[in-house]
Amino acid sequence: MKETAVKTRGLTKRFGTFTAVDRVDLEISRGEIFGFLGPNGSGKTTTIRMLCGLLSPSEGEGFILGMDISAEGEKIREDIGYMSQKFSLYSDLSVMENLKFYSGMYSLGPKTSSSRIGELIKLSNLEGMENELASNLSSGVRQRLALCCSILHEPSILFLDEPTSGVDPAGRRNFWKIIYFLAEKGTTIMVTTHFMDEAEHCDRLGLMYSGQLLACDTPEDLKKELPGHLFSINTENPVTLLEHIRDSNEGIIDAYLYGRSVRILTRGKKLLIPGEMPSEKIKPSLQDVFVHYVREGRKTERNAA
Ligand SMILES: Nc1ncnc2c1ncn2[C@@H]1O[C@H](COP(=O)(O)OP(=O)(O)O)[C@@H](O)[C@H]1O
Ligand SMILES: [Mg+2]
Repeated sequence: MKETAVKTRGLTKRFGTFTAVDRVDLEISRGEIFGFLGPNGSGKTTTIRMLCGLLSPSEGEGFILGMDISAEGEKIREDIGYMSQKFSLYSDLSVMENLKFYSGMYSLGPKTSSSRIGELIKLSNLEGMENELASNLSSGVRQRLALCCSILHEPSILFLDEPTSGVDPAGRRNFWKIIYFLAEKGTTIMVTTHFMDEAEHCDRLGLMYSGQLLACDTPEDLKKELPGHLFSINTENPVTLLEHIRDSNEGIIDAYLYGRSVRILTRGKKLLIPGEMPSEKIKPSLQDVFVHYVREGRKTERNAA
């Protein structure tokens, strides 16, 4: 049995009458890379802030390595790293000065501090940039530095909230190399992202919508669990085709635009549409899974309203 790193039961956060996180049950094993997906405003950051003991739950409970998030926030924070969406480096300090500043925040002694900083500079490829001002760094390098600042104290769990937004593909790949390295060494990682290629590389994914955890599984199983059969049609006029399909068809679970094509999810194995349009039966991508759950979530909301 794998050891549990993060566990929540019915975790809920209300702001006034608005429910930002709605009865979320999560279980993350030690060493797992857990991706947290969901549109803006779906409650990802609020969940993470509760898990870090920075925000108290309105209802439900949560445990980080067995520590209660409602009562042991301070203890939890010693054992976790948190790179928030707004993680701030000091732009008028150099790379080295930022690292030294944060190692002071974690009260690392001078010896530990300098050996740890040396290790992290190497790990994150910041060699030769020690004296650069943070304000002069590219967004990819800045995010790597922010990551180093969040893991100086060797946390056993790391929360990364959209760590690669605004970073170019090469920069994102470099960032993820560090994530893999940390996970291999046993660090548990919970990471939010908008990028499906990044989500694909997580051990498991949680899909949030409107405060609720709609699905939680490995990327492979999420794709397998998508109901029905998926078809793709390439056409000059995808919007017209989409309207036509939505108006006319029985046996269709859902239809939506996907880049320049139309994707159609059907109950039966055959897609029956008028005309001679060639359709191709395809395997769902994570993007399809994501679109499906978000659209289902919206439908449920509309029906409840
Ligand atoms: N302190 C707060 N007071 C009131 N509403 C909040 C507060 N923090 C977040 N929210 C709301 O809760 C919802 C979820 O926000 P958030 O957790 O930041 O979502 P995500 O990280 O998925 O984009 C949003 O509608 C947001 O406006
Ligand atoms: Mg957020």
